[in-house]
Amino acid sequence: MKEFIQSLPKIELHLHIEGTLEPELMLELAERNNVRIPFNSIAEIKNAYNFHNLQSFLDIYFQGADVLINEQDFFDLTWAYLLRCQEDNVLHTEVFFDPQAHTERGICFDIVVNGIHRALVKATTELGISSKLIMCFLRHLDEESAFKALESAHVHKDKIIAVGLDSTEVGNPVGKFERVFKQAIEQGFLTVAHAGEEGPAHNIHDALNLLQVSRIDHGVRCSEDENLVKQLITERIPLTVCPLSNIKLNVFEHMELHNIVTLLRRGVCVTINSDDPAYFGGYMTDNFLAVNDAHSLSKTELAQFTFNAIDASFISKSEKKQLKMLTQRYLDLHQ
Ligand code: HPA
Ligand code: ZN
Repeated sequence: MKEFIQSLPKIELHLHIEGTLEPELMLELAERNNVRIPFNSIAEIKNAYNFHNLQSFLDIYFQGADVLINEQDFFDLTWAYLLRCQEDNVLHTEVFFDPQAHTERGICFDIVVNGIHRALVKATTELGISSKLIMCFLRHLDEESAFKALESAHVHKDKIIAVGLDSTEVGNPVGKFERVFKQAIEQGFLTVAHAGEEGPAHNIHDALNLLQVSRIDHGVRCSEDENLVKQLITERIPLTVCPLSNIKLNVFEHMELHNIVTLLRRGVCVTINSDDPAYFGGYMTDNFLAVNDAHSLSKTELAQFTFNAIDASFISKSEKKQLKMLTQRYLDLHQ
């Protein structure tokens, strides 16, 4: 089963590029850019990755991002992630970035986008990995700051397919960004939002109704509202679930208690994703393995996560058809 999972074609839809910053690269960039960080070794960095909830993680995550200064840094970060995608047979990835985490400390928006984009383009030709880029607004910041980010994104419209919403969920209701999302939709951006990770099922309703999202990031707390689960099934609204993240941040106590397999078997369009793999101890294959270890899935069920992700992705119909054929062929060959 391990080999089946390792080589299974995968699609990633919930990945924060800043969350792929491995300790080795963090130290290298700190030195290259003369940025002081409160760590002297890889062991010290890894020791600090002891999270008890979302906020305790976010504090470390934003601190880590401080070493990213130049366009080349954003390129190197993204390229390292794409090489990991190749190892895990991730064929398509939809990548989040947090521009405000950088512009707030004086880094130009264009530097961030151009560095990430250059790596994504290179991966298309050199690794055969396709991608989309999604700009997230930080929900702990105010509406005005989000509007500024949206304005900066305007000249990069060709590089950014959608806007999203991340960072501290509790205390920052979706409604705070209704007007920003409305404007983004008018400008032709698709929308997604983190909801129902630490916050209640009600936040998922709000994201669907107020932000017109195409899919929900996390969304695991939907199980608290049976009518919502039924709606997700009948309207085939995707959830981009991040199993290892949910365990590391105590959304579920352990993987056996995670609801992703129950949701899958009920017909919800759930997908497996890595969120912030450098911080949560695993990339795509690791997430699939962790779910399978705790829940014993069939090969058909494991492949269903990929079929769901293809449906939920922002690629064209013909690209979806091609990826589905390829995944079906893999499944047929290994049954
Ligand atoms: N939730 C909210 N914000 C985030 C996350 C997450 O899992 N990862 C990076 N920013
Ligand atoms: Zn996330």
